Amino acid sequence: MAWQGLIEEYKEFLPVTENTPKLTLNEGNTPLLKLVNLSKELNIELYGKVEGANPTGSFKDRGMVFAVAKAIEDGSKCVICASTGNTSAAAAAYAARAGIQSIVVIPKGKVALGKLAQATMYGAKIIEIDGNFDDALQIVRNISEVSPVALVNSVNPYRLEGQKTAAFEIVDALGTSPDYLCIPVGNAGNISAYWKGFKEYNEAKKSGLPKMFGFEAEGAAAIVQGAPIANPETVATAIRIGNPASWSLAEAARDESGGIIDSVTDEEILYAYQLIASREGVFVEPGSAASLAGVLKSVKSGKIPAGSKVVTVFTGNGLKDPDTAMDVSTVDLVSLKNDEKEILKYIEGIL
Ligand code: F0G
Repeated sequence: MAWQGLIEEYKEFLPVTENTPKLTLNEGNTPLLKLVNLSKELNIELYGKVEGANPTGSFKDRGMVFAVAKAIEDGSKCVICASTGNTSAAAAAYAARAGIQSIVVIPKGKVALGKLAQATMYGAKIIEIDGNFDDALQIVRNISEVSPVALVNSVNPYRLEGQKTAAFEIVDALGTSPDYLCIPVGNAGNISAYWKGFKEYNEAKKSGLPKMFGFEAEGAAAIVQGAPIANPETVATAIRIGNPASWSLAEAARDESGGIIDSVTDEEILYAYQLIASREGVFVEPGSAASLAGVLKSVKSGKIPAGSKVVTVFTGNGLKDPDTAMDVSTVDLVSLKNDEKEILKYIEGIL
C-alpha cells in the first residue's frame, strides 16, 4: 500500500478523532541513510535521517500537518507562527492545501532565500520585523490569545505529537533504538518530540532508548550557558534562537536519557556542512549540519565511543539556503569557449 502520510499511518499513536481532517502532503517516511564513508572514518555506525526529503524540505511538515489539521478541527480559518524560515514554509504549505490563510512573522534579513520563496509561493501573509525569532514568537503568542488565529509554533502540543513520528520511523528502520540520537537544537521542540516518540515506542514495542545528544550553535547556546541570549548570532539562521520555548522539555530529554546538550561553533557547523555534501552526497542546510558537527565533536572527545550506532538528524534541505552554499564554496566555475576541443583539453588536464 502506498504511503498515506503521517496522520493516517500513525493514527494509533496520535490524538486523532473522527473529526480530524485527513490532511496530508505525503509527509514522513523519509530515508534513514547509512553514511558509509563517515561511518568508516569515525569508526561508528552512522545514519542520517534525511528530513529534507519531506514535502516542504524540512522536518516541520511532520508537526505542521497535525497542527493545521487540529486547528481546522477546532474551527480555525487562519494559522499564525513566528519562524526562522522552515516553520513558515510548512505552515504556509499546509494552510494552502487545507484552504485557509497563514500569517508568518519573521526576523528581517535572517531567513534563507529558499524558505522565503516557499512562504511567498504558498500564499502566506509575510510580516518581517526588526527583531529576532524570540521577539516574533512572543508577539504571535500574545496575538493568538486575543485574536481568532491558531498558533502553530511548537508551543502548540500537536506540533510535537506530529514530530515524534520521526523517532518511530528510525526504530522501524533499524529494528531497534540507536545508541545515540544527535540533533540540532533551536527552539528545542524537535529534541523534545523525538524523546517523546522514543519513549512511547519503547513502551509499546520494547525498542529501547537512545541517549539524546542536542547541539546548539555557540552564538545561540542558551541551554548550554544556562541563560537566555538577548542577541543570538550564528551562520545557521534556522537555529538563531536565544530563548528556546521548550527549554525544560529539552533538559528533561537530556537528563532522562543520560545525554548531553552541547554547542558547536559556526566554523564546526560549516565544516560539517561541506563534509556531508562532499563525502556522502547529502546536501543539508547549515542548521542541520549542527548535528553532524556535534557527532564529530563527540566522537573526538570520546563521548560517543567506537562501534556505537548513531543517528544524526538532517532537519532541512540544503537547497533552502543557496546563498550560504555559494559563500562557503571553494569550487571556481571554469569558463571556457563553446568549443569541444578546448573542453577536452581542460578535462585531460585534470584526469
Ligand atoms: N533545524 C532546522 C533546519 C530548523 O529549521 C530548526 C528550527 C531546527 C533545526 C531546530 O529545531 O526549534 O525544534 O529545536 N526552525 C524553526 C523555524 C525555529 O522557525 O523554522 P527546534
